[in-house]
Amino acid sequence: MQTRVVLAPMAGVSVQAFRRQGRRFGAGLVCSEMVSCAGLHHGNERTLGYLRIAADEHPLAVQIFGSEPPLMAEAARMVEDAGADIVDINFGCPVKKVTKTGAGATLLEDSGRAERIVAAVAGAVDVPVSVKMRRGVEDGSRTCLDVGPRLVDAGAATLTLHPRSARQMYTGAADHSLTAELVELVDVPVIACGDVTSRARAHTVLASTGAVAVMVGRGAQGNPWALREMVDGDEPEPTREEVAAELILFIRETVREMGERRASGFLKKFYGWYLGRGRFPRSFKQELVVLGSTDEVVQRLLAAAPGADDVLERLESDQPPVDDRLLKLPISIYGGG
Ligand SMILES: Cc1cc2nc3c(=O)[nH]c(=O)nc-3n(C[C@H](O)[C@H](O)[C@H](O)COP(=O)(O)O)c2cc1C
Repeated sequence: MQTRVVLAPMAGVSVQAFRRQGRRFGAGLVCSEMVSCAGLHHGNERTLGYLRIAADEHPLAVQIFGSEPPLMAEAARMVEDAGADIVDINFGCPVKKVTKTGAGATLLEDSGRAERIVAAVAGAVDVPVSVKMRRGVEDGSRTCLDVGPRLVDAGAATLTLHPRSARQMYTGAADHSLTAELVELVDVPVIACGDVTSRARAHTVLASTGAVAVMVGRGAQGNPWALREMVDGDEPEPTREEVAAELILFIRETVREMGERRASGFLKKFYGWYLGRGRFPRSFKQELVVLGSTDEVVQRLLAAAPGADDVLERLESDQPPVDDRLLKLPISIYGGG
């Protein structure tokens, strides 16, 4: 399905279950969370686990981050071998742990290195290479308008702009007038990212910027219905049964992906996100996060939404079997790493 809605890469969120769900609800392209090129280089098991790709995720971009062109080129080859349709490069991460290594948004201030990274990655793979960036590091920065065209010259086939500064993190508003300026400056497709949470907002951003697509991040957390509303319009509020069934499917897939121990902690933030819909009692989320196992969470959800069984059965029977692409990696990776 080709749509103009892209599901954003989000660390700690964009697991396989999230991406498959995003595709099912109409995202035309989904992205992995950022994957460390150093982690791939060292064969770190958890990092390699991020390269698991299911057959029904395509088209899928896998995002890499790092600061050394040869390591980024090597990582890009691994990503291509794993079956990604696009290699995306992260020039936007504002988090200290990443920027202090010279990666993420800091590369916007080291444009020579940024160009060398893009050239090395584009030269290493046959699939298209895209770059995701912020407007710049400092508030009010317009660096993206200078660096963006140079990255296209270096080999970027697409640019995604999240027009906040790195300093802003997620505060303030995304300034899509910059997206419109970037669209005028480059002759490759530009994807607009930031604060798109509804069909109306998606239309406004597409129309006012000339971007080819909108990328949706926080608006899709625990709310795949927002994606369908953007794509199809007129999406009714999901029923309690639908919310519970989607959450249970998400829980089961995540446990399969990362194992019960990691999944039970990882999933806690999703409970609050999902339970914003379905008219669950206020205290319900709190009840779920203190339970010791995901099985108990599933039982509580089924008790609170008795009709969810049937919806879940339908979802599970419609879901294609997981056909993880063989990665020629150690078998333990498939157990969650
Ligand atoms: C929890 C979280 C994790 C994120 N991780 C990444 C990441 O790994 N790579 C990336 O390029 N952007 C990351 N982002 C930024 C989003 O992709 C997106 O650019 C940003 O959230 C703005 O879009 P939104 O307003 O639709 O959320 C992350 C955002 C959030 C909230």
